[in-house]
Amino acid sequence: MGDYPQVDTVIEQIPDHVAIIMDGNGRWAQQTGKERKEGHQEGMEAIRRVTIRASERGIKVLTLYAFSTENWKRPPQEVKFLMQLPVKFFDRFVPELQENNIKVNMIGFKDKVPGSTKKAIEKAIDETKNNTGMILNFAFNYGGRAEIVEATKSLFDKVLSGQINKKDISEEVLQAELLTNSITPYDDVDLLIRSSGEQRLSNFLLWQNAYSEFYFSKLFWPEFTGEVLDKALLDYQYRSRRYGAI
Ligand code: IPE
Ligand code: IPE
Ligand code: MG
Repeated sequence: MGDYPQVDTVIEQIPDHVAIIMDGNGRWAQQTGKERKEGHQEGMEAIRRVTIRASERGIKVLTLYAFSTENWKRPPQEVKFLMQLPVKFFDRFVPELQENNIKVNMIGFKDKVPGSTKKAIEKAIDETKNNTGMILNFAFNYGGRAEIVEATKSLFDKVLSGQINKKDISEEVLQAELLTNSITPYDDVDLLIRSSGEQRLSNFLLWQNAYSEFYFSKLFWPEFTGEVLDKALLDYQYRSRRYGAI
């Protein structure tokens, strides 16, 4: 456990599920005259800092948006670099994840992801499967709309085969078909953070963010630190979540 003075003021209401849109790697690199991929490389260090701090703060699930279903539109060499990042990340950081009792999970579509990347992710999941601390949940080749479409297809099949009746389809039943069923009971996001000053969802956890609190930071992702996470947590505890009630 690190010794951070502001922890006493944030410890009261730690959100269970924090999700982060890690944005601004490219602009961070650009402003310092580097190539975009150097921004992604540096972004890995931010992932490490924030993961450790989140785990120390008692967050149950930290979901990180690492690659969207729309990011395939980027130049092939950038896509290739982004696809290789999980291999590099887990190579370097699995021992540290182990030390911190952190369990790796992934949400996203496996199609189109290179075999070596899939293998690295599966290996990290397997190596950390007995850890009982925070779940580090990577959204990789993830898209919120595609997720809902797939859930719909799955429900349709279940109705056709008579496994369930149409009248029994509820929010809970649909939610159980989403990719986030791997992090139940923390499917819903409590606190959504986006770096780089952009204020949009970019197809991230559309269903699960229905009642989350939003926190925007102007910092580019490679500049993000544990202290910035603490600031977001501090902000969160003063929010009044009414869920439509008074
Ligand atoms: C976030 O940084 C990383 C991914 C989307 C994979 P960007 O690459 O989007 O950086 P900007 O937004 O171009 O600065
Ligand atoms: C969202 O960032 C996706 C990830 C962080 C992985 P983008 O940079 O792709 O989003 P837009 O294009 O600015 O909406
Ligand atoms: Mg971006």
